[in-house]
Amino acid sequence: MKAILAGAALVLLAGMPEASLARDDDAAATAVTIEAGKPGAKIDRHIFGQFAEHLGTGIYGGIWVGRDSPIPNVRGIRSDVVAALKAIKVPDVRWPGGCFADEYHWKNGVGPKRRSTVNANWGGAIEPDTFGTDEFMDFAHQVGTEAYVSVNVGSGTLEEASDWLAYMTADQRSSAGADRAANGHAEPYNVEFLGLGNESWGCGGNMRPQYYTDLMKRFARFTRNYNPAQQKEAMQRIAVGPTDDDASYTEAVMEAWSKRDWSWSIEGLSFHSYTVPKWPPSLASSGFGEGDYATILATTLKMEERIAQHSAIMNKYDPDKKVALVVDEWGVWYAENPGTPTGFLQQHNSMRDAIVAALNFNIFARHADRVRMANIAQMVNVLQAMILTDGPKMVLTPTYYVHQLYLPFQDATLIPVQFDAGAYEHGDIVLPRVDAVAARATDGRLYLSLVNLDPAHSATVRVNLPEGGIKTATGQVLTAPNVNSVNTFDAPRTVVPAPIAGKVAGGTVTIVLPGKSVAMIALGR
Ligand code: AHR
Repeated sequence: MKAILAGAALVLLAGMPEASLARDDDAAATAVTIEAGKPGAKIDRHIFGQFAEHLGTGIYGGIWVGRDSPIPNVRGIRSDVVAALKAIKVPDVRWPGGCFADEYHWKNGVGPKRRSTVNANWGGAIEPDTFGTDEFMDFAHQVGTEAYVSVNVGSGTLEEASDWLAYMTADQRSSAGADRAANGHAEPYNVEFLGLGNESWGCGGNMRPQYYTDLMKRFARFTRNYNPAQQKEAMQRIAVGPTDDDASYTEAVMEAWSKRDWSWSIEGLSFHSYTVPKWPPSLASSGFGEGDYATILATTLKMEERIAQHSAIMNKYDPDKKVALVVDEWGVWYAENPGTPTGFLQQHNSMRDAIVAALNFNIFARHADRVRMANIAQMVNVLQAMILTDGPKMVLTPTYYVHQLYLPFQDATLIPVQFDAGAYEHGDIVLPRVDAVAARATDGRLYLSLVNLDPAHSATVRVNLPEGGIKTATGQVLTAPNVNSVNTFDAPRTVVPAPIAGKVAGGTVTIVLPGKSVAMIALGR
């Protein structure tokens, strides 16, 4: 094996420590066959969506600093965060929650006089309501992303939700549209996605599935989008659905949908599933060892069977796959960082989390026919964040860089791959050693995402197309000195992508993936 590696593989790993290029003596090469002639479903760019809740410093400090802040901003929205998000082409942002959404009263957050409230879900913080509907829409506009607004089904009224839609989308000749125009935005906003409640089985009101379903039908009917530009490209309504492997909402909502008449419908079913081995979350997000690393990866891989389980139920009621499964809350949830305010859900973000993100993206891509949207929790400073801020400082996390690596997968076409994943074992935990997904990007190029879960050993991957003819294999790889390596404000470039290239011989490519790595390779012919 040593001889094959030495002779066949070339890896360019700029700035990567020697240890990452570690010995590979006993590693068997993984053969990956890409069936480029059998294109599958479109990998909807919305699987790379994000979630921003009024929680901790996710909004205040993380996005909103106010117009008078010394931190560079445009109309109160921090410019460094906007630039970072633009660079990864965030397709949509879910807002304002989360549990917060079912206690949010939108009128407190519009116009010149804001009414502050208490954020009872998240540490009892005072919610100043200075970041409201118009500020969120401005933020979405600055980032160049689509709006996914969740209405309050738990503690709000149907009238309040319907008025909110009118405020956002009605013509300015109507009173609701005139109010919006008076607040600075004459044109109706686009509301591309509408959440009909959040976790109505839990923090959103603890409703029986049937009770929620009946209520949801009324919200689906009367939360109208009046924006003329959205009559053809209609707003997608997303009902509350399952959590983890509890399928009671999947059954109730999908059965009701299968019996719908002309008067209501939904286009998506929400699914929440966090990577947490046991509630309440207790594992540390930094300074952990290989045991916790393997436990978290084993937990996150449950996403595959959970999606399969809920998809099978949806197939029963919706064989044409009209309703999308929308994984609009996912990600790792650890113990809060010691010394941070309770309820702010602040955690570190390490190389382990980058692997988690890549494995989940690969799972969503493999289920691209049903999973057409997903929103990582959460965007800035909360849970598995892409960005961390501290006053004027900002750092991009390893999870941010996975979003960057996967840019070619946005709206790409899934291409089947055949491979033997092998095994990475730690104690009783047995995991696949390698994961792979291929896709044809919108630019026509073929891309292969590869993950090496083994923290200590590189993995040799031999890629071929049945029709042969690969001439180049170049891309980017993300790895780190340790699975618990993080980027900090003082050392922001510990975990950043570096170039990688495969060695091409006779139409076949050999790539050496460092231990604990995520790679995105463009295959040229
Ligand atoms: O993301 C944090 C919380 O997790 C959300 O508010 C809620 O929907 C979920 O339980």
